[in-house]
Amino acid sequence: MTQILSGLVVAETRRAKLVEKVQSFISKSNRPPGLAVVLVGADPASQVYVRNKIKACEHVGIVSTHHRLPDTISQDELHTVIDTLNADSAVDGILVQLPLPKGLSETLATERILPSKDPDGLTSGNLGLLFAGRTRVAPCTPLGVMKIFEHYKIEVEGKSAVVVGRSNIVGKPMAQLLLEANATVTVAHSKTFDLKSVTSQADIVVVAAGRPQFMGKEFFKSGSIIADVGIHRLPDGAAGGGPNGKSKLCGDVLTSELMNHAQAITPVPGGVGPMTIQMLLENTLRLAELRA
Ligand code: GUN
Repeated sequence: MTQILSGLVVAETRRAKLVEKVQSFISKSNRPPGLAVVLVGADPASQVYVRNKIKACEHVGIVSTHHRLPDTISQDELHTVIDTLNADSAVDGILVQLPLPKGLSETLATERILPSKDPDGLTSGNLGLLFAGRTRVAPCTPLGVMKIFEHYKIEVEGKSAVVVGRSNIVGKPMAQLLLEANATVTVAHSKTFDLKSVTSQADIVVVAAGRPQFMGKEFFKSGSIIADVGIHRLPDGAAGGGPNGKSKLCGDVLTSELMNHAQAITPVPGGVGPMTIQMLLENTLRLAELRA
């Protein structure tokens, strides 16, 4: 039987503990931790993510402020908003929701955030600390994958781990976190020759390729542990899509083929996704504590 690694369960368990930690921060510091969420434009998926992040803050006692900016904003105007939040003592974390509308530089906007106020862990300052082995905050999605492994007591040390994808937000920091946990790590990507021959050797595979359901059973050895970071909406009528005009979510892995083949797998939805938000909240509290 393949074990389902529920991020929902892990996030819920950690959220209960986080509520207590936030309360204890408030008693000590006489203020709540603060997260500023910046959304530029009206990308529908980003609007949903931002709404969920704000709701999650409310649940744990972190005060969030929402800064909605038009997609006509200039890079300089966006930087002015970030500078104001950098200087605001009630703000512990600043999140600029990605992707930004065309014409705006994500790199410049992200780098404008003070590393000490970067709960996404995406500034070069925080990525640098991570890769130097002196982590302040690690990026939320790969950190969430590690916490799922920790919760389910999945040993990483000594194992072979393959990360599929090399983005700054998931693939690269994921590889570093696995390395720090003493795995032997390989990073595969879109230019890798014969991906199947690489992933099918691995004890642990983390997939963050951004391609719906492209990895079936033949990509994984029997007994492997799989974390599926992908999230895609399958339209009605597509294979696996929902009936009656309802779309259905899926990951990068063809999970139905992995049942009774993998040792354990994260589902989509309910796997890595809920952990990303939980890690954002935990990182925000950590930054608040470091500033205090
Ligand atoms: N867009 C998709 N995921 C993320 C994330 O974790 N942080 C930010 N800032 N934008 C995102």
